[in-house]
Amino acid sequence: MSEITKIILTEDDMPRQWYNIQADLKHPLPPPVDKEGKPIGPDALAPVFPMNLIEQEMSTQRWIDIPEEILEVLSLWRPSPLYRARRLEKALGTPAKIYYKNEGVSPPGSHKPNTAIAQAYYNREFGIKRLTTETGAGQWGSALAFACQLMGLECKVFMVRISFDQKPFRKIMMQTWGAECVASPSTETQAGRAILAQDPDTPGSLGIAISEAIEQAVQTDKTRYALGSVLNHVLMHQTIIGLEAKKQFAKIGAYPDIVIGCCGGGSNFAGLAFPFLADKFNGKDVRVIAIEPTACPTLTRAPFAYDSGDVAMMTPLLAMYSLGHTFVPPPIHAGGLRYHGMAPLVSHMLREGMIEAVAMPQLECYKAALLFARTEGFIPAPETAHAIAAVIREADKAKEEGKEKTIVMNWSGHGLMDLSGYRAYLEGKLSDFILPEEMLKRSIASMEGLPKPPEL
Ligand SMILES: Cc1ncc(COP(=O)(O)O)c(C=O)c1O
Repeated sequence: MSEITKIILTEDDMPRQWYNIQADLKHPLPPPVDKEGKPIGPDALAPVFPMNLIEQEMSTQRWIDIPEEILEVLSLWRPSPLYRARRLEKALGTPAKIYYKNEGVSPPGSHKPNTAIAQAYYNREFGIKRLTTETGAGQWGSALAFACQLMGLECKVFMVRISFDQKPFRKIMMQTWGAECVASPSTETQAGRAILAQDPDTPGSLGIAISEAIEQAVQTDKTRYALGSVLNHVLMHQTIIGLEAKKQFAKIGAYPDIVIGCCGGGSNFAGLAFPFLADKFNGKDVRVIAIEPTACPTLTRAPFAYDSGDVAMMTPLLAMYSLGHTFVPPPIHAGGLRYHGMAPLVSHMLREGMIEAVAMPQLECYKAALLFARTEGFIPAPETAHAIAAVIREADKAKEEGKEKTIVMNWSGHGLMDLSGYRAYLEGKLSDFILPEEMLKRSIASMEGLPKPPEL
Protein backbone atom coordinates (compact mmCIF):
# COMPACT_ATOMS: atom_id res chain seq x y z
CA MET A 1 0.00 0.00 0.00
CA SER A 2 1.39 3.37 -0.96
CA GLU A 3 -0.46 5.48 1.60
CA ILE A 4 -0.99 4.74 5.27
CA THR A 5 -4.58 4.74 6.66
CA LYS A 6 -3.97 4.27 10.36
CA ILE A 7 -0.96 4.86 12.56
CA ILE A 8 -0.63 2.16 15.20
CA LEU A 9 1.56 2.07 18.29
CA THR A 10 2.50 -1.08 20.19
CA GLU A 11 1.64 -1.67 23.85
CA ASP A 12 5.26 -0.90 24.67
CA ASP A 13 4.79 2.60 23.19
CA MET A 14 2.00 3.42 25.66
CA PRO A 15 2.72 6.59 27.67
CA ARG A 16 3.80 5.69 31.23
CA GLN A 17 2.86 9.09 32.73
CA TRP A 18 -0.06 11.52 32.52
CA TYR A 19 0.58 15.17 31.66
CA ASN A 20 -0.60 17.66 34.31
CA ILE A 21 -1.13 21.02 32.61
CA GLN A 22 -1.32 22.75 36.01
CA ALA A 23 2.49 22.74 36.04
CA ASP A 24 2.59 25.05 33.00
CA LEU A 25 -0.15 27.63 33.62
CA LYS A 26 0.82 31.32 33.23
CA HIS A 27 -1.66 32.29 35.96
CA PRO A 28 -2.59 29.83 38.71
CA LEU A 29 -6.01 28.23 38.51
CA PRO A 30 -8.49 29.99 40.87
CA PRO A 31 -9.10 27.47 43.70
CA PRO A 32 -12.48 25.88 44.45
CA VAL A 33 -14.23 27.96 47.15
CA ASP A 34 -17.18 27.75 49.54
CA LYS A 35 -20.20 30.07 49.36
CA GLU A 36 -18.34 32.73 51.38
CA GLY A 37 -15.50 32.67 48.85
CA LYS A 38 -13.02 30.85 51.16
CA PRO A 39 -10.75 28.32 49.35
CA ILE A 40 -11.73 24.72 50.01
CA GLY A 41 -9.06 22.48 51.54
CA PRO A 42 -8.62 18.77 50.76
CA ASP A 43 -10.52 17.75 53.92
CA ALA A 44 -13.73 19.36 52.69
CA LEU A 45 -13.67 17.08 49.64
CA ALA A 46 -12.88 13.92 51.63
CA PRO A 47 -16.49 12.68 52.06
CA VAL A 48 -16.94 12.81 48.27
CA PHE A 49 -13.58 11.66 46.81
CA PRO A 50 -10.73 9.44 48.09
CA MET A 51 -7.66 11.37 49.28
CA ASN A 52 -5.33 9.92 46.60
CA LEU A 53 -7.53 11.48 43.88
CA ILE A 54 -7.89 14.75 45.84
CA GLU A 55 -4.07 14.93 45.86
CA GLN A 56 -4.03 14.52 42.07
CA GLU A 57 -6.74 17.17 41.76
CA MET A 58 -4.55 19.71 43.52
CA SER A 59 -1.15 18.61 42.23
CA THR A 60 1.05 20.91 40.16
CA GLN A 61 3.58 18.17 39.36
CA ARG A 62 4.05 18.08 35.56
CA TRP A 63 4.23 14.28 35.08
CA ILE A 64 2.38 11.69 37.18
CA ASP A 65 3.19 7.97 36.86
CA ILE A 66 0.39 5.71 35.64
CA PRO A 67 0.22 2.64 37.92
CA GLU A 68 1.03 -0.67 36.19
CA GLU A 69 -2.40 -2.19 36.94
CA ILE A 70 -4.13 0.71 35.17
CA LEU A 71 -1.84 0.34 32.15
CA GLU A 72 -2.64 -3.37 32.01
CA VAL A 73 -6.38 -2.71 31.77
CA LEU A 74 -5.96 0.19 29.34
CA SER A 75 -3.94 -2.10 27.09
CA LEU A 76 -7.19 -4.00 26.32
CA TRP A 77 -7.81 -1.28 23.70
CA ARG A 78 -4.89 1.18 23.95
CA PRO A 79 -2.94 2.57 22.25
CA SER A 80 -5.93 3.66 20.16
CA PRO A 81 -5.37 4.07 16.40
CA LEU A 82 -4.86 7.45 14.75
CA TYR A 83 -6.65 7.34 11.40
CA ARG A 84 -6.16 9.45 8.31
CA ALA A 85 -9.68 10.21 7.00
CA ARG A 86 -8.76 9.86 3.33
CA ARG A 87 -12.26 9.08 2.10
CA LEU A 88 -13.73 12.03 3.98
CA GLU A 89 -10.99 14.30 2.54
CA LYS A 90 -11.84 13.06 -0.95
CA ALA A 91 -15.58 13.63 -0.48
CA LEU A 92 -14.85 17.18 0.68
CA GLY A 93 -12.34 17.78 -2.09
CA THR A 94 -10.11 19.48 0.43
CA PRO A 95 -6.33 19.80 0.40
CA ALA A 96 -6.46 19.46 4.23
CA LYS A 97 -5.13 16.28 5.81
CA ILE A 98 -7.68 15.09 8.35
CA TYR A 99 -6.74 12.74 11.19
CA TYR A 100 -8.95 11.28 13.91
CA LYS A 101 -7.94 9.59 17.13
CA ASN A 102 -10.44 6.75 17.50
CA GLU A 103 -11.49 6.50 21.14
CA GLY A 104 -14.56 4.50 20.13
CA VAL A 105 -12.51 1.27 20.26
CA SER A 106 -12.79 0.90 24.05
CA PRO A 107 -15.25 -1.75 25.34
CA PRO A 108 -17.90 0.84 26.40
CA GLY A 109 -17.29 2.77 23.16
CA SER A 110 -15.74 6.10 24.16
CA HIS A 111 -12.82 7.89 25.82
CA LYS A 112 -14.55 7.70 29.22
CA PRO A 113 -12.90 4.46 30.50
CA ASN A 114 -9.47 6.17 30.38
CA THR A 115 -10.44 7.92 33.61
CA ALA A 116 -13.05 5.40 34.84
CA ILE A 117 -10.36 2.71 35.17
CA ALA A 118 -8.04 5.12 36.98
CA GLN A 119 -10.75 6.37 39.33
CA ALA A 120 -11.97 2.87 40.19
CA TYR A 121 -8.35 1.82 40.84
CA TYR A 122 -7.55 4.75 43.18
CA ASN A 123 -10.84 4.32 45.06
CA ARG A 124 -10.18 0.60 45.58
CA GLU A 125 -6.61 1.34 46.75
CA PHE A 126 -8.13 3.74 49.30
CA GLY A 127 -10.44 1.01 50.64
CA ILE A 128 -13.66 2.16 48.93
CA LYS A 129 -16.20 -0.58 48.05
CA ARG A 130 -18.84 1.28 46.02
CA LEU A 131 -19.01 4.23 43.61
CA THR A 132 -21.99 6.39 42.66
CA THR A 133 -22.15 8.57 39.60
CA GLU A 134 -24.31 10.41 37.08
CA THR A 135 -24.46 9.84 33.36
CA GLY A 136 -25.77 11.94 30.49
CA ALA A 137 -25.58 10.06 27.22
CA GLY A 138 -24.81 6.84 29.08
CA GLN A 139 -21.20 6.60 27.90
CA TRP A 140 -19.78 7.59 31.28
CA GLY A 141 -22.14 5.34 33.26
CA SER A 142 -21.19 2.38 31.05
CA ALA A 143 -17.50 3.21 31.39
CA LEU A 144 -17.69 3.34 35.19
CA ALA A 145 -19.77 0.15 35.32
CA PHE A 146 -17.09 -1.59 33.22
CA ALA A 147 -14.26 -0.15 35.34
CA CYS A 148 -15.89 -1.08 38.66
CA GLN A 149 -16.44 -4.63 37.41
CA LEU A 150 -12.76 -4.99 36.51
CA MET A 151 -11.54 -3.39 39.75
CA GLY A 152 -14.00 -5.27 42.02
CA LEU A 153 -16.25 -2.38 43.16
CA GLU A 154 -20.03 -1.92 43.23
CA CYS A 155 -21.47 0.81 41.03
CA LYS A 156 -24.70 2.88 41.05
CA VAL A 157 -25.53 5.19 38.14
CA PHE A 158 -28.11 8.02 38.02
CA MET A 159 -28.95 8.47 34.33
CA VAL A 160 -30.50 11.73 33.07
CA ARG A 161 -34.19 10.93 32.35
CA ILE A 162 -34.20 12.07 28.70
CA SER A 163 -31.22 9.84 27.83
CA PHE A 164 -32.62 6.98 29.92
CA ASP A 165 -35.70 7.09 27.65
CA GLN A 166 -33.78 7.72 24.40
CA LYS A 167 -31.14 5.01 24.97
CA PRO A 168 -32.60 2.01 26.83
CA PHE A 169 -29.75 -0.29 25.80
CA ARG A 170 -27.18 1.77 27.74
CA LYS A 171 -28.89 0.65 30.96
CA ILE A 172 -28.57 -2.97 29.87
CA MET A 173 -24.85 -2.45 29.16
CA MET A 174 -24.40 -1.10 32.69
CA GLN A 175 -26.33 -4.05 34.14
CA THR A 176 -24.25 -6.45 32.05
CA TRP A 177 -21.16 -5.03 33.76
CA GLY A 178 -22.89 -5.51 37.13
CA ALA A 179 -23.99 -1.94 37.88
CA GLU A 180 -27.36 -0.56 38.97
CA CYS A 181 -28.86 2.22 36.82
CA VAL A 182 -31.86 4.44 37.69
CA ALA A 183 -33.46 7.37 35.87
CA SER A 184 -32.77 10.81 37.35
CA PRO A 185 -34.48 12.64 38.93
CA SER A 186 -35.43 9.61 41.03
CA THR A 187 -37.51 9.23 44.16
CA GLU A 188 -34.48 7.70 45.94
CA THR A 189 -32.91 11.00 47.02
CA GLN A 190 -34.03 14.23 48.59
CA ALA A 191 -32.60 16.20 45.64
CA GLY A 192 -34.51 14.04 43.13
CA ARG A 193 -37.80 14.21 45.05
CA ALA A 194 -37.55 18.03 45.33
CA ILE A 195 -37.14 18.41 41.56
CA LEU A 196 -39.96 15.93 40.79
CA ALA A 197 -42.30 17.87 43.12
CA GLN A 198 -41.64 21.04 41.08
CA ASP A 199 -41.73 19.43 37.64
CA PRO A 200 -42.78 15.77 37.39
CA ASP A 201 -42.10 15.74 33.62
CA THR A 202 -38.59 17.22 33.69
CA PRO A 203 -36.13 15.73 31.13
CA GLY A 204 -33.53 15.89 33.93
CA SER A 205 -30.03 17.31 33.68
CA LEU A 206 -26.49 16.34 34.55
CA GLY A 207 -26.64 18.93 37.36
CA ILE A 208 -29.59 17.12 38.96
CA ALA A 209 -28.09 13.63 38.50
CA ILE A 210 -24.82 14.79 40.11
CA SER A 211 -26.76 16.03 43.18
CA GLU A 212 -28.42 12.62 43.51
CA ALA A 213 -25.16 10.67 43.13
CA ILE A 214 -23.30 12.84 45.67
CA GLU A 215 -26.19 12.67 48.15
CA GLN A 216 -25.98 8.86 48.14
CA ALA A 217 -22.17 8.79 48.21
CA VAL A 218 -21.77 10.93 51.33
CA GLN A 219 -24.25 8.79 53.31
CA THR A 220 -21.90 5.80 53.68
CA ASP A 221 -18.27 5.60 54.66
CA LYS A 222 -17.17 3.05 52.06
CA THR A 223 -18.95 4.80 49.17
CA ARG A 224 -17.53 7.66 47.13
CA TYR A 225 -18.62 9.62 44.09
CA ALA A 226 -16.91 9.54 40.67
CA LEU A 227 -17.22 12.33 38.11
CA GLY A 228 -16.75 11.61 34.41
CA SER A 229 -15.47 15.03 33.37
CA VAL A 230 -14.82 18.63 34.53
CA LEU A 231 -12.32 18.01 37.35
CA ASN A 232 -8.55 18.43 36.97
CA HIS A 233 -7.66 14.79 37.68
CA VAL A 234 -10.25 13.54 35.17
CA LEU A 235 -8.79 15.72 32.42
CA MET A 236 -5.30 14.59 33.36
CA HIS A 237 -6.24 10.88 33.03
CA GLN A 238 -7.44 11.66 29.51
CA THR A 239 -4.09 13.14 28.41
CA ILE A 240 -2.98 9.65 27.43
CA ILE A 241 -4.97 10.37 24.21
CA GLY A 242 -2.91 13.42 23.18
CA LEU A 243 0.36 11.87 24.35
CA GLU A 244 -0.26 8.86 22.10
CA ALA A 245 -1.35 11.13 19.23
CA LYS A 246 1.91 13.09 19.45
CA LYS A 247 3.90 9.84 19.23
CA GLN A 248 1.78 8.78 16.25
CA PHE A 249 2.39 12.09 14.43
CA ALA A 250 6.10 11.82 15.22
CA LYS A 251 6.08 8.37 13.61
CA ILE A 252 4.95 9.87 10.28
CA GLY A 253 6.98 13.06 10.65
CA ALA A 254 3.88 15.31 10.87
CA TYR A 255 2.36 17.78 13.36
CA PRO A 256 -1.18 19.23 13.36
CA ASP A 257 -1.97 22.87 12.54
CA ILE A 258 -5.40 22.53 14.14
CA VAL A 259 -6.57 20.36 17.08
CA ILE A 260 -10.34 19.93 17.56
CA GLY A 261 -12.53 18.26 20.18
CA CYS A 262 -16.15 18.45 21.28
CA CYS A 263 -16.75 19.85 24.72
CA GLY A 264 -19.33 18.74 27.31
CA GLY A 265 -17.48 19.00 30.60
CA GLY A 266 -14.20 19.25 28.68
CA SER A 267 -12.48 15.90 29.25
CA ASN A 268 -12.03 14.40 25.75
CA PHE A 269 -11.14 17.81 24.34
CA ALA A 270 -8.52 18.33 27.07
CA GLY A 271 -7.28 14.77 26.70
CA LEU A 272 -6.29 15.36 23.11
CA ALA A 273 -5.50 19.07 23.34
CA PHE A 274 -3.48 19.56 26.54
CA PRO A 275 -0.35 17.69 25.38
CA PHE A 276 -0.37 19.92 22.26
CA LEU A 277 -0.88 23.00 24.46
CA ALA A 278 2.28 21.91 26.31
CA ASP A 279 4.10 22.65 23.02
CA LYS A 280 2.12 25.87 22.50
CA PHE A 281 3.35 27.13 25.90
CA ASN A 282 6.83 26.69 24.40
CA GLY A 283 6.03 28.71 21.28
CA LYS A 284 4.61 26.09 18.90
CA ASP A 285 2.07 27.53 16.46
CA VAL A 286 -1.04 25.34 16.81
CA ARG A 287 -4.73 26.31 16.84
CA VAL A 288 -6.82 24.46 19.41
CA ILE A 289 -10.62 24.63 19.09
CA ALA A 290 -13.31 23.45 21.53
CA ILE A 291 -16.73 22.70 20.03
CA GLU A 292 -20.02 22.91 21.93
CA PRO A 293 -23.72 22.84 20.94
CA THR A 294 -25.66 26.07 20.25
CA ALA A 295 -28.27 24.65 22.67
CA CYS A 296 -25.77 24.67 25.54
CA PRO A 297 -23.27 27.44 24.68
CA THR A 298 -21.15 27.53 27.82
CA LEU A 299 -17.82 28.68 26.39
CA THR A 300 -19.25 30.99 23.73
CA ARG A 301 -22.05 32.79 25.63
CA ALA A 302 -21.85 32.18 29.39
CA PRO A 303 -19.99 34.38 31.90
CA PHE A 304 -16.84 33.27 33.71
CA ALA A 305 -18.01 32.87 37.30
CA TYR A 306 -17.84 30.86 40.48
CA ASP A 307 -20.65 28.32 40.24
CA SER A 308 -21.67 24.99 41.63
CA GLY A 309 -21.28 21.81 39.60
CA ASP A 310 -24.79 20.60 40.49
CA VAL A 311 -28.28 21.91 40.97
CA ALA A 312 -28.51 21.24 44.74
CA MET A 313 -25.15 23.05 45.21
CA MET A 314 -23.50 20.07 46.91
CA THR A 315 -20.16 20.61 45.13
CA PRO A 316 -17.77 23.42 46.01
CA LEU A 317 -17.90 26.48 43.75
CA LEU A 318 -15.62 26.14 40.72
CA ALA A 319 -14.24 29.03 38.65
CA MET A 320 -15.57 28.28 35.17
CA TYR A 321 -17.72 29.45 32.32
CA SER A 322 -21.22 28.55 33.45
CA LEU A 323 -24.79 28.91 32.22
CA GLY A 324 -25.91 28.68 35.87
CA HIS A 325 -26.40 25.55 37.94
CA THR A 326 -30.20 25.63 37.51
CA PHE A 327 -29.86 25.42 33.71
CA VAL A 328 -31.90 22.54 32.25
CA PRO A 329 -30.60 22.17 28.70
CA PRO A 330 -33.02 21.52 25.86
CA PRO A 331 -33.28 17.81 25.02
CA ILE A 332 -30.89 17.71 22.06
CA HIS A 333 -29.48 14.31 21.19
CA ALA A 334 -25.87 14.99 22.23
CA GLY A 335 -26.66 14.18 25.87
CA GLY A 336 -23.00 14.32 26.91
CA LEU A 337 -22.77 17.97 25.85
CA ARG A 338 -25.75 19.10 27.94
CA TYR A 339 -23.84 20.43 30.95
CA HIS A 340 -24.19 23.94 32.40
CA GLY A 341 -20.51 24.35 33.34
CA MET A 342 -17.10 23.71 31.81
CA ALA A 343 -13.92 22.23 33.25
CA PRO A 344 -12.04 24.95 35.17
CA LEU A 345 -8.86 24.05 33.25
CA VAL A 346 -10.56 24.36 29.85
CA SER A 347 -12.21 27.61 30.98
CA HIS A 348 -8.83 28.89 32.12
CA MET A 349 -7.23 28.05 28.77
CA LEU A 350 -9.93 30.03 26.97
CA ARG A 351 -9.43 33.00 29.29
CA GLU A 352 -5.68 32.87 28.67
CA GLY A 353 -6.26 32.89 24.90
CA MET A 354 -4.68 29.45 24.43
CA ILE A 355 -7.79 27.95 22.83
CA GLU A 356 -10.80 29.07 20.74
CA ALA A 357 -14.44 28.01 21.14
CA VAL A 358 -17.19 27.52 18.54
CA ALA A 359 -20.87 26.55 18.99
CA MET A 360 -22.45 24.22 16.41
CA PRO A 361 -26.14 23.67 15.59
CA GLN A 362 -27.51 20.14 15.85
CA LEU A 363 -28.52 19.67 12.18
CA GLU A 364 -25.05 20.58 10.84
CA CYS A 365 -23.61 18.02 13.26
CA TYR A 366 -25.89 15.20 12.09
CA LYS A 367 -25.21 16.10 8.45
CA ALA A 368 -21.47 15.85 9.23
CA ALA A 369 -21.98 12.56 11.11
CA LEU A 370 -23.75 11.04 8.13
CA LEU A 371 -21.03 12.13 5.72
CA PHE A 372 -18.43 10.67 8.09
CA ALA A 373 -20.30 7.36 8.40
CA ARG A 374 -20.79 7.17 4.62
CA THR A 375 -17.10 7.77 3.89
CA GLU A 376 -15.08 6.47 6.86
CA GLY A 377 -17.61 3.84 7.93
CA PHE A 378 -17.61 4.40 11.69
CA ILE A 379 -20.87 5.83 13.07
CA PRO A 380 -19.99 8.63 15.51
CA ALA A 381 -21.70 9.53 18.78
CA PRO A 382 -23.79 12.72 18.46
CA GLU A 383 -21.24 14.46 20.74
CA THR A 384 -18.38 13.44 18.42
CA ALA A 385 -20.42 14.73 15.48
CA HIS A 386 -19.85 18.26 16.81
CA ALA A 387 -16.09 17.85 16.36
CA ILE A 388 -16.61 16.37 12.89
CA ALA A 389 -18.79 19.33 11.83
CA ALA A 390 -16.06 21.71 12.96
CA VAL A 391 -13.37 19.72 11.12
CA ILE A 392 -15.46 19.94 7.96
CA ARG A 393 -15.77 23.73 8.34
CA GLU A 394 -11.98 24.00 8.71
CA ALA A 395 -11.37 21.62 5.79
CA ASP A 396 -13.72 23.72 3.61
CA LYS A 397 -11.81 26.86 4.67
CA ALA A 398 -8.52 25.19 3.72
CA LYS A 399 -10.05 24.41 0.32
CA GLU A 400 -11.13 28.05 -0.21
CA GLU A 401 -7.68 29.25 0.80
CA GLY A 402 -5.90 26.47 -1.10
CA LYS A 403 -3.91 25.53 2.01
CA GLU A 404 -2.75 22.04 2.95
CA LYS A 405 -3.66 22.21 6.66
CA THR A 406 -3.20 19.21 8.97
CA ILE A 407 -6.24 18.81 11.22
CA VAL A 408 -6.68 16.30 14.05
CA MET A 409 -9.85 15.61 15.99
CA ASN A 410 -10.72 13.49 18.94
CA TRP A 411 -13.20 10.91 17.71
CA SER A 412 -14.58 10.59 21.24
CA GLY A 413 -16.98 7.69 20.76
CA HIS A 414 -19.19 5.60 18.51
CA GLY A 415 -22.91 6.19 18.17
CA LEU A 416 -24.14 2.61 18.03
CA MET A 417 -26.19 3.16 21.19
CA ASP A 418 -27.41 6.56 19.95
CA LEU A 419 -29.36 5.46 16.90
CA SER A 420 -32.65 7.02 18.04
CA GLY A 421 -31.03 10.41 17.29
CA TYR A 422 -30.04 9.19 13.83
CA ARG A 423 -33.57 7.89 13.27
CA ALA A 424 -35.06 11.28 14.21
CA TYR A 425 -32.60 13.02 11.87
CA LEU A 426 -33.22 10.64 8.97
CA GLU A 427 -36.99 11.07 9.40
CA GLY A 428 -36.57 14.86 9.29
CA LYS A 429 -37.81 15.27 12.86
CA LEU A 430 -34.84 17.15 14.33
CA SER A 431 -34.43 20.89 14.45
CA ASP A 432 -31.77 23.34 15.55
CA PHE A 433 -31.96 25.02 18.90
CA ILE A 434 -30.25 28.30 19.60
CA LEU A 435 -30.55 29.18 23.25
CA PRO A 436 -32.88 32.21 23.57
CA GLU A 437 -31.39 35.23 25.36
CA GLU A 438 -34.17 35.31 28.03
CA MET A 439 -33.54 31.66 28.96
CA LEU A 440 -29.82 32.38 29.23
CA LYS A 441 -30.43 35.44 31.44
CA ARG A 442 -32.77 33.49 33.71
CA SER A 443 -30.32 30.67 34.34
CA ILE A 444 -27.34 33.00 34.74
CA ALA A 445 -29.34 34.81 37.45
CA SER A 446 -29.04 31.66 39.62
CA MET A 447 -25.38 32.62 40.17
CA GLU A 448 -26.21 36.06 41.62
CA GLY A 449 -24.82 36.55 45.10
CA LEU A 450 -22.05 33.94 44.67
CA PRO A 451 -18.41 35.05 45.08
CA LYS A 452 -16.66 36.42 42.00
CA PRO A 453 -13.45 34.88 40.62
CA PRO A 454 -10.29 37.05 40.51
CA GLU A 455 -9.34 38.97 37.35
CA LEU A 456 -6.47 37.43 35.35
C1 LIG B 1 -18.84 10.19 23.11
C2 LIG B 1 -18.77 11.39 24.01
N1 LIG B 1 -18.06 12.44 23.59
C3 LIG B 1 -17.97 13.55 24.35
C4 LIG B 1 -18.61 13.65 25.57
C5 LIG B 1 -18.51 14.93 26.32
O1 LIG B 1 -17.84 14.82 27.53
P1 LIG B 1 -16.42 15.47 27.75
O2 LIG B 1 -16.54 16.92 27.34
O3 LIG B 1 -16.14 15.30 29.18
O4 LIG B 1 -15.47 14.73 26.89
C6 LIG B 1 -19.35 12.58 26.05
C7 LIG B 1 -20.02 12.64 27.36
O5 LIG B 1 -20.85 11.90 27.74
C8 LIG B 1 -19.43 11.41 25.24
O6 LIG B 1 -20.13 10.36 25.64
